Amino acid sequence: MTEILVPTELENFRDYVREVAERYVKPWAMVVDKEDRFAKESFEAVKRANLAGVIIPKEYGGLGLTTKHYIIFIEELTRVCPSTAVTFAVTSGLVPKFLLDFASEEIKREYLPKVASGEYIGAFGLTEPCCGSDAGSLKTRAEEVEGGFKIYGQKIFITNASVSKFIITMAKTDPEKGKKGITAFLVDTDSEGLSIIKNEDKLGWRGSVTSAISYDGVFVPYWKVIGKRGEGFKYALSSLDAGRIGIAAMGLGTIKRAIEISADYIRQNGLSSNESYTFRLSDMYVMYETAREYTFFAAELRDAGKPYTKEAAIAKLVASEYAMRAVNIMLDILGPDGVVWGEAERLFRDTKILEIGEGTSEIQRLVISRSIL
Ligand code: CAA
Repeated sequence: MTEILVPTELENFRDYVREVAERYVKPWAMVVDKEDRFAKESFEAVKRANLAGVIIPKEYGGLGLTTKHYIIFIEELTRVCPSTAVTFAVTSGLVPKFLLDFASEEIKREYLPKVASGEYIGAFGLTEPCCGSDAGSLKTRAEEVEGGFKIYGQKIFITNASVSKFIITMAKTDPEKGKKGITAFLVDTDSEGLSIIKNEDKLGWRGSVTSAISYDGVFVPYWKVIGKRGEGFKYALSSLDAGRIGIAAMGLGTIKRAIEISADYIRQNGLSSNESYTFRLSDMYVMYETAREYTFFAAELRDAGKPYTKEAAIAKLVASEYAMRAVNIMLDILGPDGVVWGEAERLFRDTKILEIGEGTSEIQRLVISRSIL
């Protein structure tokens, strides 16, 4: 198969992603929302377009592009289908970042090329019934046995779990050490003892899968332990910094689409000189530009190898809260037309989770305030 060449200059890259998104992802966005099922056609299209490995280095089969490219990738997918965007935000963002930074060369060589080609989908298992925001209190445990560990416990709200090849799983190897006793494991989903308890029936992102999982003595060999024993929680928090840039990018795509839908409505209804409409459009535009500045700033720091925890939290907070305000304004502009089932209504439902997933707005405020104090 001839490899598809993806343009690398940022604006050309955006045009390329937009064309793929418009042609092959958008047609499925309302279908998968209605049918409440994984957007497999959209996933396959993005995979065929050679975009799944956007930030994975070339030596592991990816495109080796920057965090700014990744933001554009996620933003443009969100503009047409937030469900597809979040699927890739996890498998092409959070998951490879975790493996690149902390996994052994053996794991990287085995898994990253297949993540880059889209053959494998990855998931990230941190949240548990006991603990969402207070992730360090998780209860899943890993007992050392001959040749490796056996994992027992449950995870909830895990994006991609039921379509994934593997789940990066945080479990306690040394419970008496609290969060310093958490270790990260690469768990293959076809392992004995791993089962999907249920797939959630969600308000939004209905074309992505979110599952509760049970680990009942799932064996993980030593070579699939990621990094050092007891460091798993730090690895998770560090990877979530990158994940939060992905959610901020979803906020950008949401605001952009809310502006487009609102502007079309204003034009089509002859309201372009009515300031009660046009000023709201200006507010949305200011929100987009502000959130974009923060998000790209966090990306620049990350690509320069500088600390960006606080900036990623600011970007995530600003972009997700502005996105929620923007879709609210969009529905105010559309009136009754916005609340019947359709793109605007779906975008509204797809947005609330941005303020919750990968750390709630309160968690972002906590991260920011800790950095001040
Ligand atoms: N990067 C690297 N290390 C970090 C870090 C970061 N961003 N933040 C903290 N650490 C280190 C600390 O320095 C500390 O190390 P030492 O013990 O050596 O000093 C260690 O990690 C623990 O840090 P804290 O004591 O600050 O941890 P905490 O328990 O107070 O928690 C928190 C901090 C910010 C509240 C954290 O628990 C958090 O972010 N919670 C939200 C979790 C979250 O975002 N969950 C969503 C998961 S995504 C998901 O599940 C959906 C999906 O499918 C993708």
